[in-house]
Amino acid sequence: MAEFSLPKNSKVGKGEHHAAPEGATNVRTFNVYRWNEDDGSNPVVDTYELDMDKCGPMVLDALIKIKNEVDSSLTFRRSCREGVCGSCAMNIDGKNTLACTKSCDDVKGDVDVYPLPHMSVVKDLVVDMSGFYAQYASIEPWMKTKTPTPSGKERLQSKEDREKLDGLYECIMCGSCSASCPSYWWNGDKYLGPAILLQSYRWLVDSRDEYTGERLDELEDPFRLYRCHTIMNCANTCPKGLNPAEAIGEIKKLMVERQG
Ligand code: SF4
Ligand code: FES
Repeated sequence: MAEFSLPKNSKVGKGEHHAAPEGATNVRTFNVYRWNEDDGSNPVVDTYELDMDKCGPMVLDALIKIKNEVDSSLTFRRSCREGVCGSCAMNIDGKNTLACTKSCDDVKGDVDVYPLPHMSVVKDLVVDMSGFYAQYASIEPWMKTKTPTPSGKERLQSKEDREKLDGLYECIMCGSCSASCPSYWWNGDKYLGPAILLQSYRWLVDSRDEYTGERLDELEDPFRLYRCHTIMNCANTCPKGLNPAEAIGEIKKLMVERQG
């Protein structure tokens, strides 16, 4: 019989409260998801009150302040702090985005910070991206050619062909789109998801790549490509303003065109 209640260990409890320092007048509250498998207990949401007069403007600044000054065990990924590396993707104020480019001022009320949804949590805000990266590797995201490299020069591309990569090359593989996609939530082991398919189209449309047919053959499968139902969460959430759904639509068009 179907079970409609959550298992006991998936329920999120109330965690610790860390009050603002005495004398702070510009206080914001951050509710942060915490889970550590080693504790053997359920996840909790800890509450941190921060003095924003002594904190940088971005959500990542707040997390770093918490880690440095309140609780060094808080775990999250970050590297570039300027929207380039993609490692700080998480769910902030109900939307998947980058902590380093999300301004605290853009959130009304408390700032809720959770890991990317429907990904397996490793600890606190860190999720397991290994399946995502394996899918990325599966599309062979590099230029593949059959003709010999022209001697002494690069493989050239016209200005118009180069422009076809706009809206694609900017993807930083943060995973925000895939983690916002219901089709990917339910079939993430078989459906490639918006991020990987956007990357796939980036190579399909590159005029220098000579494996277009083989790349399309790899996507000809009921799940890998065709589980996209244009729900559009991907385009709504992408912190770089990209549109994976559109790229997926273009791949579907290429599939049809080659049958003609
Ligand atoms: S398309 Fe946007 S949300 Fe998706 S992985 Fe690339 S940068 Fe991140
Ligand atoms: S830390 Fe690199 S994208 Fe946020």
